[in-house]
Amino acid sequence: MTPTPGSTTTRATDEPPPTAAPPEADSVSSEKFVTLTAHEMQVPISVLSWNMGRLNRVLGTVSERPDVRRILDRLLEANVRLTTLVEDLLNLAKLHEGAFRVYLRPIQLTEVARRCLKTLEREAERRGVVLTWSWDQAQIPLTRGDPNRLSEVITNLVSNGVKYTPRGGRVAISIRSSSELAPPTVPIPAGKTRTGKYLLVSVEDTGMGIPNDEQPKVFQQFFRGRKAFASAEGGTGLGLYLVRRMVEQHGGAVWFVSREGYGSTFFFTLPVAEPYPEGAEATKSA
Ligand SMILES: Nc1ncnc2c1ncn2[C@@H]1O[C@H](COP(=O)(O)OP(=O)(O)OP(=O)(O)O)[C@@H](O)[C@H]1O
Ligand SMILES: [Mg+2]
Repeated sequence: MTPTPGSTTTRATDEPPPTAAPPEADSVSSEKFVTLTAHEMQVPISVLSWNMGRLNRVLGTVSERPDVRRILDRLLEANVRLTTLVEDLLNLAKLHEGAFRVYLRPIQLTEVARRCLKTLEREAERRGVVLTWSWDQAQIPLTRGDPNRLSEVITNLVSNGVKYTPRGGRVAISIRSSSELAPPTVPIPAGKTRTGKYLLVSVEDTGMGIPNDEQPKVFQQFFRGRKAFASAEGGTGLGLYLVRRMVEQHGGAVWFVSREGYGSTFFFTLPVAEPYPEGAEATKSA
């Protein structure tokens, strides 16, 4: 009998029951596999990074040939992409396990930013995007932060700016003091006060912008915009999700303004470091 809509079909009694493992078990083991694989990839990736850096220095100085330069650039870019991907996967796994930690101590955020921007400068140049940064060092107080995590935050935001801005465009980073955690239009966690002493970082681009209907989704796990998805740009849609988690773990906030076709500005704040005992270190977990 052909089943009609709404009718039920009965399984013949000699037919074995479905043998597939319950979906929960499947997803647990595949998640574990991804985590283990990402973990194992760290060593070969650091060997690659180290030797790529050396190759770049040696060949970059002795060879004037543009094709050699192009090959080196492609290798460096693929290496950065691979490193970021593995870092994102490991961070996501730690978040799922509740083992994601930030190690807070008084730091000079401008130093962290400078190092990230130096690394991203070459990539921006290759893509024909002008990367600029500005801050008044004397006016920037210390913040309490985890330099590794904040480096990931800055790298994610700036590389989005570079990635989603066409040739001829600009990405500008600024750091300044602010007296509010976030503007009144941005929701903040319950129990937090809006006013205080903060550093405000902005990453402004003249790129493709984010369509209105996609704006509420950009901080969701695995979300990628239609244009990003259709473009040749790689990505998992984890970057901004991790940025938000990391910034919030520091007691800060992250938000953006964007107009399709004109560009986007992403902002994040971090609390200024209170006077802190010399040499002391604190740990805060997710
Ligand atoms: N500066 C930007 N300009 C335009 N669109 C952006 C910008 N930053 C993020 N987006 C949009 O938000 C989406 C989510 O960003 P997110 O950084 O989380 O993921 P991704 O860049 O696609 O991949 P990944 O960061 O994991 O490599 C992007 O796919 C893109 O559609
Ligand atoms: Mg991204």
